[in-house]
Amino acid sequence: MRLRYLIAIVLIPIVGYATIDLYSPEFIQARIKPVGEVNIATPQGAQPVTAVAAAAASPAVASADTGKKIYDSKCVVCHGSGLAGAPKFGDQGAWQPRIAEGIKTLLDHATNGYKAMPPKGTCMECTATDLEAAINYMVSAAKGK
Ligand code: HEC
Repeated sequence: MRLRYLIAIVLIPIVGYATIDLYSPEFIQARIKPVGEVNIATPQGAQPVTAVAAAAASPAVASADTGKKIYDSKCVVCHGSGLAGAPKFGDQGAWQPRIAEGIKTLLDHATNGYKAMPPKGTCMECTATDLEAAINYMVSAAKGK
């Protein structure tokens, strides 16, 4: 009884193995297929490359964008129309002598206030970098660039 049971345990896998056709086309294909498969860039595979390129290009774009964004939301109130004697956006004559003072002075005046120019141009959440970006945006416009 016990012996027959053991013989069955030994024989079943052998018989099972023997019934597999080792020379069937599927088995041959499976055995000779290349070890590695080349993953030709799929749209998903290509995406990280685009993302990296975009990330590398973004800092410069962000600063110009930040300048415009801050100007459009805060500075335009006065600098758009020349309110209270503010040098008007794009007005070369009004900006020229101020540009001549240098960016350091402009940034200092914009940060701390200057005559009717309120501190930080009312953009209380703006960092020095933000203010400089907004000034650069106005200065570029006044230079016609
Ligand atoms: C409430 C009105 C007002 C707002 C808002 C305002 N400005 Fe001004 N700004 C002025 C006025 C007025 C002057 C001119 C001051 C003067 O020379 O008499 C001025 C001048 C300046 C100057 C030239 C300073 C100099 O040294 O000649 C800069 C730079 C400047 N503003 C930047 C900014 C920026 C950046 C913002 C937005 C974050 C801003 N301003 C928002 C009113 C404003």
